[in-house]
Amino acid sequence: MKIGILNSGGDCPGLNAVIHGVVGAAAELGWEVIGFRDGFEGLLPPGDFMTLQAEDTVGILKLGGTILGTTNKGHFAAKIGEGEVSGVPREIVAKAKRTMDQMGIGALIVVGGDGSLTTGMQLYQEGWPIIGVPKTIDNDLRATAMTFGFDSAVSTVVDGLDRLHTTAASHKRVMVLEVMGRHAGWIALWGGMAGGANVVLLPEIPFDMEKVAEFIRQREAMGHHSTLVVVAEGARLPDGQIMRIADNAGGEVRLGGMGDYVAHQIERLTGKETRSCTLGHLQRGGAPTALDRILGIRFGVMAVKLAAEGRFGRMVSYQSYHVDSVPIADAVDQLRLVESGGEMVNAARAIGICFGDWFHRFWVLGEGYIPKGLWAVATALECGDMSPLSPQRDMSRRSKAETCLRTPSAVAIRNVAD
Ligand code: F6P
Repeated sequence: MKIGILNSGGDCPGLNAVIHGVVGAAAELGWEVIGFRDGFEGLLPPGDFMTLQAEDTVGILKLGGTILGTTNKGHFAAKIGEGEVSGVPREIVAKAKRTMDQMGIGALIVVGGDGSLTTGMQLYQEGWPIIGVPKTIDNDLRATAMTFGFDSAVSTVVDGLDRLHTTAASHKRVMVLEVMGRHAGWIALWGGMAGGANVVLLPEIPFDMEKVAEFIRQREAMGHHSTLVVVAEGARLPDGQIMRIADNAGGEVRLGGMGDYVAHQIERLTGKETRSCTLGHLQRGGAPTALDRILGIRFGVMAVKLAAEGRFGRMVSYQSYHVDSVPIADAVDQLRLVESGGEMVNAARAIGICFGDWFHRFWVLGEGYIPKGLWAVATALECGDMSPLSPQRDMSRRSKAETCLRTPSAVAIRNVAD
């Protein structure tokens, strides 16, 4: 059999590993693999493609990007905005199908994110032999527990935070790092936790800059003079709007600017010197991590298996440490978002990460070991200068302070929702 593969949408570390997996597994079956260039565009007459043999994929595992090229706009863009789906025009589908038929492609492996898989689903519904492979650094597809590229993106965030940590501490500054994450804040959450961020701001958890500022003031009072903030590009402004750089003709809007916004607000509210930095496409480029290489290879091999079994209209999926598949129809338009009360966010809260939605706790380590800065905070609280911190909302500010000072346990003041 002759099968085709294309990469569509934004690139992502691990795409070449998928190609490697597909070509390797296909070679075992004696199949020929055709790689279409620049996503679905490569299907348009006269066809833009390359034959992929096992020797062509030697050494590509470690390469970022994709040897096939990709695009997130063009004739086949099925999504034009948040939640808006536009079908691919019939004449375009017909032209591309002619290429498929003339070349005798018996299965087409579409490696893409939500938008590209939506296109893939339309083509499957029109009779094409489509197999989907999920791809997104945002890791926000509900039908798969993990997508390749995410781990590499998170590693870049962690590296960025490690670097920001030293400069923030040296200058006693607040450093804000804007990371990718259009609808979901997984990159910010994982990166923030692993990189030791103090504040993590996500699209899924509405935040209040005053609460973030209060948290930073408390840290200051406790002797922590630098703070690391991670904000997802898709985090929302107080009015629920996203920050956009530009409307992308024929594609999704370009996000950006949240980091600068958050930095400006922190400086305004706390008086602390604050800088912001945007990681941008550094998160998408470069070599994939070992995890992403393995995941990519396994996804590619599973795609060939599905083709061999004639199970078209299915998307490769990773669940409970196994690579399996689900119907593409069950996978598209189903985002997996960070849950505000989920285990991961709770774990982050437990280690003191602020999401800007609560007035935050501080820790009292016992009467015999109360740091100097904390005494200052507690005294201020007694004077009524501090924000409410006690879980017992009906208590007076004075008794809250007493609670705080007298509690002998390790955690004297707990988080309380505002
Ligand atoms: O969807 C993946 C993603 O990396 C988003 O996080 C980001 O908003 C977008 O792609 C950037 O796309 P582009 O490469 O078109 O700027």
